[in-house]
Amino acid sequence: SRFGSSSILFSALSLSGCSGPHSALDPAGPEASHVAHLFFVMLIAGIIIWSAVVAALIYASRKKRVYSEQSAGRVILWCGAILPAIILCALLSYGVWLMPAVRPWLPDDQQVHRIEVTGEQFWWRVRYLDEAGEVMFETANEVRIPVGQPAHFLLKAVDVIHSFWVPSLGGKMDMIPGRTNPLTLMADREGIYRGVCAEFCGQSHALMAFTVRAVAPDEHEAWLVERQVPGPRDAEGLAVFLKNGCGACHAISGTAAAGRIGPELTAFGERGTLAAGTLPHTQEDIARFISYPERTKPGVKMPHFGMLPEDDIKTIAAFLKELK
Ligand code: CUA
Repeated sequence: SRFGSSSILFSALSLSGCSGPHSALDPAGPEASHVAHLFFVMLIAGIIIWSAVVAALIYASRKKRVYSEQSAGRVILWCGAILPAIILCALLSYGVWLMPAVRPWLPDDQQVHRIEVTGEQFWWRVRYLDEAGEVMFETANEVRIPVGQPAHFLLKAVDVIHSFWVPSLGGKMDMIPGRTNPLTLMADREGIYRGVCAEFCGQSHALMAFTVRAVAPDEHEAWLVERQVPGPRDAEGLAVFLKNGCGACHAISGTAAAGRIGPELTAFGERGTLAAGTLPHTQEDIARFISYPERTKPGVKMPHFGMLPEDDIKTIAAFLKELK
């Protein structure tokens, strides 16, 4: 029947959202497991309340049989008020009891990875801090963490309120200008997890995503060291990049490009996406974004460069794609 097939389609659609790199119901770490657990407990309690209320409704609406006012009143009182109140109180207590488990924590027995993430319209500035809290290097829109070790995020904002949310790894945390909000996340399996901005922050709020790459601890350590030594650069590409003034807003370490306004581009070529999770990381898309960023991302602060010679844009895109 039509109803049957549409309900199968609906279940398939709802279940397809339950796994993958962007699902709170497919937890990849302890914080996210607490959240997923709370969700299922609430779902079951919700089903019990819904069933009780519907049972009370059916009971009250069956007019053929005559019930005394007293017994109907009792059913409505118990199924419609007392039972839901008991379940909701139990859920509240459970939620409050769970809160310490999802609070930011700073482990002292393990190495702590401190990562500062700043929300800006409409991208993420990512800084890796050393043990003394000094910035080791900066990157953007992609965070790497080691599997099985806690990553302690220091969350900030410069313009408006944003919210840092990686559903597979844990709960949301607001990023508020003038404040630093801590959040500890841990991945217990390798993978690429998608994060999004969870607070409306302007025209391109929906285009403000990022990725968290959880890799083996050795690989992460090697990357931290390697990332501090600039890779080889194409001199001709760099010259075109600098000639057109890109370095006024973007930085590439070890070169004259030292702008701090836009995303850092030192190892741009190793990112999986472009424009904060908005476009695929291809040379064509890089060229397209440089030419008319506003078409992809309304409200973006980067001006358009469509007036530059086409060859220059192509050269810059090719140069950026190779930056490691
Ligand atoms: Cu940033 Cu919404």
